[in-house]
Amino acid sequence: MSLIDDLKAATPTEELERREALGKIIGAALTIAGLGTAFTTVRYLRPNVLFEPATRFRVGRPDEIPVGTLVVLEDQQLFVGHTGAGFFAMSTVCTHLGCMTQYLESERAIVCPCHGSRFDDDGNVTDGPAPRPLPRLHLSVSNGELVVDSRRVVDADFVLRA
Ligand code: FES
Repeated sequence: MSLIDDLKAATPTEELERREALGKIIGAALTIAGLGTAFTTVRYLRPNVLFEPATRFRVGRPDEIPVGTLVVLEDQQLFVGHTGAGFFAMSTVCTHLGCMTQYLESERAIVCPCHGSRFDDDGNVTDGPAPRPLPRLHLSVSNGELVVDSRRVVDADFVLRA
């Protein structure tokens, strides 16, 4: 039996059911299209912002870091050191290909596990493929605490007298 024969054979009740079903299908399609349009519009109107981790952070009071100490802050990828001349902050990211370096306190050396670069505790290259010293970062004092700005690279001889 063909579709035409089915349509001809449809009773008024079946015709009404077909129309109701067709109405529900069209209603559902329009609802889905409307929701899609509303979602896309809201998504378009929202600012496209990347929420990145903070680049300025407090690393403690100066008197908490004794002279001759190099503190490792793994989460912030930072070393904070205190020499007789003052305080400094430097990145833990190797200048070769960006691996995380590690501080060997017993050897007073910073080593990179990836390709074997070594740095002294001032960040100067002593061995390996690293092309540059570890970058020093801006350090200041705010409300009695040391504050590192990891976006601001400073000269290799920068120290903060606090
Ligand atoms: S990434 Fe550090 S030595 Fe290669």
